[in-house]
Amino acid sequence: MKTVSLGNNYTIEPLSATHDRKSFACGDPALDRYLHQQASQDTRRNFAAVFVTVESSSGRLHGFYSLSMASANLDLLPEDIARKMPRYPTVPGIRLGRLAVHLEIQGKGLGTHLLLDAMARSLKNEIAWTAFIVNAKNNKAQAWYKRLGFQSFKDNKNHLYLMRQTIEALNLNQ
Ligand SMILES: CC(C)(COP(=O)(O)OP(=O)(O)OC[C@H]1O[C@@H](n2cnc3c(N)ncnc32)[C@H](O)[C@@H]1OP(=O)(O)O)[C@@H](O)C(=O)NCCC(=O)NCCS
Repeated sequence: MKTVSLGNNYTIEPLSATHDRKSFACGDPALDRYLHQQASQDTRRNFAAVFVTVESSSGRLHGFYSLSMASANLDLLPEDIARKMPRYPTVPGIRLGRLAVHLEIQGKGLGTHLLLDAMARSLKNEIAWTAFIVNAKNNKAQAWYKRLGFQSFKDNKNHLYLMRQTIEALNLNQ
């Protein structure tokens, strides 16, 4: 899945040199700086795959997210989940490193749409993973992820996961 269509208004596509990153502002300076200054380099060096939402009519960026491979310690999962896992010390995962929506259109569903798109894309990846992992940057973001079904790892409330099985049950790729 290279490009996802959001009706006629938006596409979600890999970040490239043609995108106007400078005008993006989500209200969090670190996330803005990441897109403005770091994201292209991370992509080039294969540290992260960055995807952007482009408004078709204007070419403006309205959101972005980044994905990388990750792992989580098995003992940070609740016992009822860990019990069903092989006894390896870590669980393979995908990390949603960053997710942000432009200030002007927050609260209209794009963040949720981007999260689901990131999950659908991860399911299409042929490399095995079993936990979809996020680091919420504050309690507000934590609550936002929890509303969507994420649970906190044992070590840190802002370190959250959703198991692949749960995501598969959403039938995102149909
Ligand atoms: C967090 C963020 C990505 C969410 O994207 P968004 O497009 O604004 O969110 P959505 O419109 O998809 O979701 C809004 C829904 O979440 C709910 N919501 C918003 N903040 C919430 C919170 N703190 N706790 C629980 N629910 C929350 C809203 O009530 C709304 O629910 P509804 O659909 O039932 O009306 C976006 O606001 C953003 O970029 N914020 C700044 C950067 C940031 O915090 N990024 C998080 C990375 S850790």
